[in-house]
Amino acid sequence: MILVTGGAGFIGANFVLDWLEGSDEPVLNVDKLTYAGNLGTLKSLKDDARHVFARADICDRAAMDELFAKHKPRAVVHFAAESHVDRSIHGPADFVQTNVVGTFTLLEAARTYWNALPEAEKQAFRFLHVSTDEVFGSLSATDPQFSETTPCAPNSPYSATKAGSDHLVRAYHHTYGLPVLTTNCSNNYGPYQFPEKLIPLMIANALAGKPLPVYGDGQNVRDWLYVGDHCAAIREVLAKGKLGETYNVGGWNEKKNLEVVHTLCDLLDQKKPKASGSYRDQIAYVTDRPGHDRRYAIDARKLERELGWKPAETFETGLAKTVQWYLDNQAWADEVASGEYRKWVETNYGQRA
Ligand code: NAD
Ligand code: DAU
Repeated sequence: MILVTGGAGFIGANFVLDWLEGSDEPVLNVDKLTYAGNLGTLKSLKDDARHVFARADICDRAAMDELFAKHKPRAVVHFAAESHVDRSIHGPADFVQTNVVGTFTLLEAARTYWNALPEAEKQAFRFLHVSTDEVFGSLSATDPQFSETTPCAPNSPYSATKAGSDHLVRAYHHTYGLPVLTTNCSNNYGPYQFPEKLIPLMIANALAGKPLPVYGDGQNVRDWLYVGDHCAAIREVLAKGKLGETYNVGGWNEKKNLEVVHTLCDLLDQKKPKASGSYRDQIAYVTDRPGHDRRYAIDARKLERELGWKPAETFETGLAKTVQWYLDNQAWADEVASGEYRKWVETNYGQRA
């Protein structure tokens, strides 16, 4: 079986669902179920023996040791993290704990387990660490895209802790020979994303008749990657990636935030028109995010050249699917927008002009 951490979160849950759609190899899903973890996303696997769920914190060494010993995974795919930049600005401590201490603890448990494996299983073992393009910092409008050799220059507490975890993973390969792989991907979007991130937040607010809060001038650029394409890239890297290497994963879709919001409004105008006016009328410019990175862009040619992966979705097809999914699954979105979510909305948006 494979051990997936953070498999109740957005990308992790999409990965678990995709994995079990294409394979009968079981998944041990290890997740602490923070505000971002939601077992409702995995309810289609309720009676499926191939999905084993363990509620545990990756910072808990004894729990990690026990899970490795009991389930004997052939690979780890490590998604678990605190993932939202704005939350890292309001409360960085949880980010240091989970992203740095948690990854360290998981690496230690994996190393102990891996060291004791018989030689053939030791050779076959993999530890795949899922990271982000944010570790590379911010680009100007004319800079070349991030490549695998771009130096690390993280700017937020979130990206600094992810960079710390990337360095630990790299060091465990160079020092101990642990068979690791790292992926650095751009902004994911698609089904089951928590409505704190740009795209699901805008859809939820638009449908609720609330303002669409665009930070600063709305000209910051992100590269958008459909989550299903990201899951396919991870499967390729896990199967064929070269040990100790890093792979950039991107959608070749650089867009300004305002363009993204406009496209979302236009899609909603077509699919669920308002009684009068356009969803664009709800756009509200608000105070910028402190330290807001201007542009991220990914050069994903290594992954295409070496492993044959490229994204299947364009931004237009991926976004249309995503909007339709949120329209068809409003019950899921209402369920995750719990009391804790309402508190976060007040913390992040209540004080912004
Ligand atoms: P998410 O916030 O939606 O989910 C994170 C999951 O990890 C949740 O299920 C949560 O309960 C779990 N978790 C948190 N702390 C834990 C702990 N201490 N122990 C065990 N489980 C814990 O995140 P996501 O958007 O799905 O991101 C997954 C991974 O991909 C993260 O490592 C993130 O840094 C990386 N990433 C995300 C994006 C993106 O656009 N969302 C882009 C690049 C990289
Ligand atoms: O680049 C990969 C990263 O993408 C991941 O590592 C992170 O886990 C993920 O959260 C994401 O980070 P961003 O900060 O880019 O994503 P977010 O959805 O929070 O914001 C996208 C852009 O939209 C960013 O420029 C800030 C802006 N924004 C965001 C929110 C929540 C707004 O203008 N208004 C908002 O309300």
